[in-house]
Amino acid sequence: MNSATKIGVVTVSDRASRGEYVDRGGPAVVEYLKATVTSKIELISSVIPDERGLIEATLIELSDVEKCDLIVTTGGTGPAIRDVTPEATETVCDKMMPGFGELMRQVSLTKVPTAILSRQVAGIRSSETGGTLMINLPGSPKAIAECLDAVFAAVPYCLDLIGGGFLETDPARIIAFRPKKK
Ligand code: MTE
Repeated sequence: MNSATKIGVVTVSDRASRGEYVDRGGPAVVEYLKATVTSKIELISSVIPDERGLIEATLIELSDVEKCDLIVTTGGTGPAIRDVTPEATETVCDKMMPGFGELMRQVSLTKVPTAILSRQVAGIRSSETGGTLMINLPGSPKAIAECLDAVFAAVPYCLDLIGGGFLETDPARIIAFRPKKK
């Protein structure tokens, strides 16, 4: 029996972490994953402020201790002084996956001109027991679905390649692309 794929969902927001408003980003990511992934998943959610050291520590804990196969962050990707999620992600990854950010911005730009303001990145933190794919998303729930729709078809095979869990998706939403074995 396949074990569950572990997925970390991290909301990065000063105001949501202080309780000044209700976090809508994290729940939007969770809702997307539950609707799209048909294989067994285990979700670990957290809400943290835009503090670079804390973001790095959270990503490392989810990767090295919790052994998440995938981490999705939401928020902190813009140009504001406190926005440091991409920098924290780059620091803890040993391999960047620039195609994710490129495609998310490209698709997002067809929806909203301010998509260019997101510096979102993706990368892999490797370990001997398997890697963790980390993907940054902007904070807005609308952006979350738009960005995940753009790249999610490639996520299951990426997890296969880094020794992560086997993700299956609802083909009515996302057709996971796995190249045919030679
Ligand atoms: N991408 C999509 N698909 N849809 C959006 O509405 N909002 C943009 C951009 N990317 C947006 C988007 C805006 S207005 C900003 S400021 C940046 O993401 C950064 O958002 P963040 O700071 O919440 O991460």
